[in-house]
Amino acid sequence: MTRLDLADVDVRYGGLLAIAPLSLTVPGGKLLAVTGPSGAGKTTLLWLMAGALEPDRGTVEVDGVPVGGRPEAAARGIVLVPQGNGLAAVLTAYENIVVPLLDGGVPSREADDRARQALEEVGLEEWAGHLVEELSGGQQQRVAVARALAARASVLLADEPTSDLDGRNREVVLHALRAAADRGAVVVLATHDPEAAAAADGELALDAGEATWVRSFA
Ligand SMILES: Nc1ncnc2c1ncn2[C@@H]1O[C@H](COP(=O)(O)OP(=O)(O)OP(=O)(O)O)[C@@H](O)[C@H]1O
Ligand SMILES: [Mg+2]
Repeated sequence: MTRLDLADVDVRYGGLLAIAPLSLTVPGGKLLAVTGPSGAGKTTLLWLMAGALEPDRGTVEVDGVPVGGRPEAAARGIVLVPQGNGLAAVLTAYENIVVPLLDGGVPSREADDRARQALEEVGLEEWAGHLVEELSGGQQQRVAVARALAARASVLLADEPTSDLDGRNREVVLHALRAAADRGAVVVLATHDPEAAAAADGELALDAGEATWVRSFA
């Protein structure tokens, strides 16, 4: 089972302490919600976990190995669903999912299967051929989550993946994230949504970069 460890990390943007010294472990199979007001440091923490940002101090490790930079992290299955989804607007939903798989060397037939299955998992199989720019914000969020599912993420970091969703689709996305955890992934979601936080196994609240456990893992 995968495991994510942060040991005494902090992040500064110039004079601003965006993440105050923090240590935590997220075991595979668990879903961690990171909550807190706008500007609290949620995105910063997810970027740190994704290898998209280097800590000023401390270490970020997956299975005891430093995550390294973003390309290395991506190659290890550390997948970030960025805030605002990060999809290519001029590709279809299907292409957004399948192209990175093909790029990563997944054989075309398997890539096709995975992409279709992931779209189905988020209820978008009928939207596969639509351009992302023709989809609603909530549909785009679900495509972004589907892309992470298709990548078979070992660490799935989702930044506010339910912010534009109605209640039913929020359930669909939370269910999909839970399924990824059940397959052994470490799943971390940043959220403003109390119901999404309640669905997680643990909740870490950030306030101006200071983290407190609302609920730690049992
Ligand atoms: N590249 C940057 N350079 C300087 N300061 C930054 C940078 N990125 C973020 N910050 C600052 O760091 C703090 C944390 O930002 P972050 O984006 O992590 O917050 P957040 O909790 O994700 O907020 P939101 O809920 O609005 O997405 C904020 O004060 C922000 O202004
Ligand atoms: Mg953010």
